[in-house]
Amino acid sequence: MIDRDPHQMLEGMAIACYAIGAETAYIYIRGEFALGARIVEQALGEARAKGYIGRNILGTGVNIEMWLHRGAGAYICGEETALLESLEGKRGLPRVKPPFPATHGLYNKPTVVNNVETLANLPHIINRGAEWFASIGSPPKSTGTRIFCVSGHIKRPGNYEVPMGITFRELIDEHAGGMRSDKKLKAIIPGGASAAFFTDRHLDVKLDFESVAQAGSMLGSGGVTVMEEGTSMVWAALRLMEFFYHESCGKCTPCREGTSWLVQTMRRIVAKRGRMEDLETLTDLCQNIAGRTVCAFGDAAIAPVLSTLQHWRDEYEELIREAEAAGLADLPELILPMAVRH
Ligand SMILES: Cc1cc2nc3c(=O)[nH]c(=O)nc-3n(C[C@H](O)[C@H](O)[C@H](O)COP(=O)(O)O)c2cc1C
Ligand code: SF4
Repeated sequence: MIDRDPHQMLEGMAIACYAIGAETAYIYIRGEFALGARIVEQALGEARAKGYIGRNILGTGVNIEMWLHRGAGAYICGEETALLESLEGKRGLPRVKPPFPATHGLYNKPTVVNNVETLANLPHIINRGAEWFASIGSPPKSTGTRIFCVSGHIKRPGNYEVPMGITFRELIDEHAGGMRSDKKLKAIIPGGASAAFFTDRHLDVKLDFESVAQAGSMLGSGGVTVMEEGTSMVWAALRLMEFFYHESCGKCTPCREGTSWLVQTMRRIVAKRGRMEDLETLTDLCQNIAGRTVCAFGDAAIAPVLSTLQHWRDEYEELIREAEAAGLADLPELILPMAVRH
């Protein structure tokens, strides 16, 4: 969105600033997005030159200054309080809440944190009215459109802006071109890495916040990943777990240590050295992370393991049975190299 039309976001930010009486706004962009940062920097220059931002905007007496800040590249800096810490020049570690940013945010001042998609909707809502926006999508709570980033084993991966409330089947078949081969759909990640997996039984679930939550997952970032028959769900869950282990900021013990133990146990199973009791260990580790962490990262990190255990436990068991049949499960602990954190 910021690549194609950064001014939609800048205009939305100006509206939000005006609404809450803020005079300073920051755009926090992940370090890796160099092109996006260049485009936004140029757009800020254009808006400044036209007098749309800065002091005394268009002679109205309203002052709104906007600054672009490039992060160093960490998933956790998407969490709003870690983002604020990072903006203040500190390491991006989430804050304990309360207090919430609305009262104690950037430099301890009242702060609103919103994402690009939310802010870019504002000019359209102001121009065309709240009723118009509410008439699109899936009322009462999931109105408007959403941009879904569809990837995986489909014909046309890409970003699709659609009304909220269409089904996964419509998104995948009509927009993303359907499956890439004649293999059937096996799994869907409905809302980014931290969302619990869905199966082909969920194809008719509506893409709105309530329906996805009711079906046991979340719409999150709108990152939809599609996997075909033949994909190993244990391997897929391990891959996501490795991501979470790498990205855990380390502030709290259940997440820092738990993600490490989850990866080690999952790696042992995938390497066909697992034992049946590992499945209880995985569940136990997840239960000891859930609800016991400083930020929502902990709950997110366990979603891939718990949901694949729920839907595809037989795949875990098959790998373990192969290990047992080969006499590998009883071998001494397999020491698996762990990625170096940071
Ligand atoms: C671990 C973690 C990572 C997050 N990463 C992002 C992110 O990359 N982008 C984002 O918009 N929100 C992210 N969030 C949610 C933000 O904390 C915040 O709720 C959101 O940006 C608010 O914007 P909205 O009200 O416009 O949805 C993350 C939350 C957590 C717990
Ligand atoms: S849950 Fe994980 S990412 Fe969040 S504060 Fe704790 S260690 Fe950091």
